[in-house]
Amino acid sequence: MGNLADKSEILYHVGFCADDLKGAEWAVLPGDPGRVQLLAENLGEAKFIACHREYTSWLAQMDCGPVLVCSTGMGGPSTAICLEELARMGIKGVIRVGTTGTIQEKISIGDLIINNAAVRLDGTSQHYAPLNFPAVADIEITNALRQAAIENDFPCHTGISVSSDTFWPGQERYDSFSGYVRKSLRGTLQEWQKLGALNYEMETSALFVVSQCLGLKAGAVCSVVAKRTDSEAVVPLENKGETTRRFWVTVKRALQLLLKAGE
Ligand code: URA
Repeated sequence: MGNLADKSEILYHVGFCADDLKGAEWAVLPGDPGRVQLLAENLGEAKFIACHREYTSWLAQMDCGPVLVCSTGMGGPSTAICLEELARMGIKGVIRVGTTGTIQEKISIGDLIINNAAVRLDGTSQHYAPLNFPAVADIEITNALRQAAIENDFPCHTGISVSSDTFWPGQERYDSFSGYVRKSLRGTLQEWQKLGALNYEMETSALFVVSQCLGLKAGAVCSVVAKRTDSEAVVPLENKGETTRRFWVTVKRALQLLLKAGE
C-alpha cells in the first residue's frame, strides 16, 4: 500500500495536503507552472491549491470526478519528487503533458506525440531501477490518449521518446554556449532516429520508471515544438492557443474514458 500521508499533512515540496485533493486520484502533469491554470480551467471548474517552488497546483472538477493539475518543473529530479508526494496523497494515475523535439522527418511542429516507452537517458530513474529495467507507459492511458487524439482528428504519433537529462548535449544540440557535445553523445541523434525513436524531451523516462516503482499508472503526451531534422531551434508556435487546445481536449477526453472505465 505504501506510506500514505495523513490527510492534513502538508507535503514539503508541493505544499498541499491530501484533503486539498477532495478525493482526486488522477493528476495531469505539465512541466511548466505557467500552463497549469489554463489546463485546469479547461478541464472543469478549477480552484487554486498551492504554488511552491516549481509546483503549481490547481484542482479541476470534471463531470467524472476531481482531477489535480500540478506542474513538475523540468527534468527527472523534480518530476520524481512530485510523483513521490502525489502518491503519498493517494494519486493513482498521472498523465504528463509536455513539449518535445521530434527527430523523425514525418512528424511536424504542432503534432502530438504519445509516448508508450522511453529511452532512459536520465539519472533519476537509475536511483529507482537498474538501466535494463524498461520505462513503459500504462497501456490503458496510452490507448485512451490515442483514442482521444484520433477522435478529434489531431495529428498524432505513438512511440518511443528519448528522455535526456540535458537539453543540449544529451539531445545532441550544438547551439549551446560552448558548442561542445562530448564524444560519446556525438552521432546519437542519428542512432535514435534509425532505431525509430520519435522525440527528445526531459521527463518521460523518470515519470514511467518512478511511477512503476510507486505503483502509479502513467502516460505521456507531448506537443512538438522543435523539428530536429530541420534545425536545433525551438519554434515559437504560430498558434499557441491551438496547441494548448489540443492538449486539454485530448487529456480531457482521455480522462473521461479512463475515469468511466474505472467506475
Ligand atoms: N523539450 C526538449 O527537451 N527538447 C526539445 O527539443 C523541445 C522541447
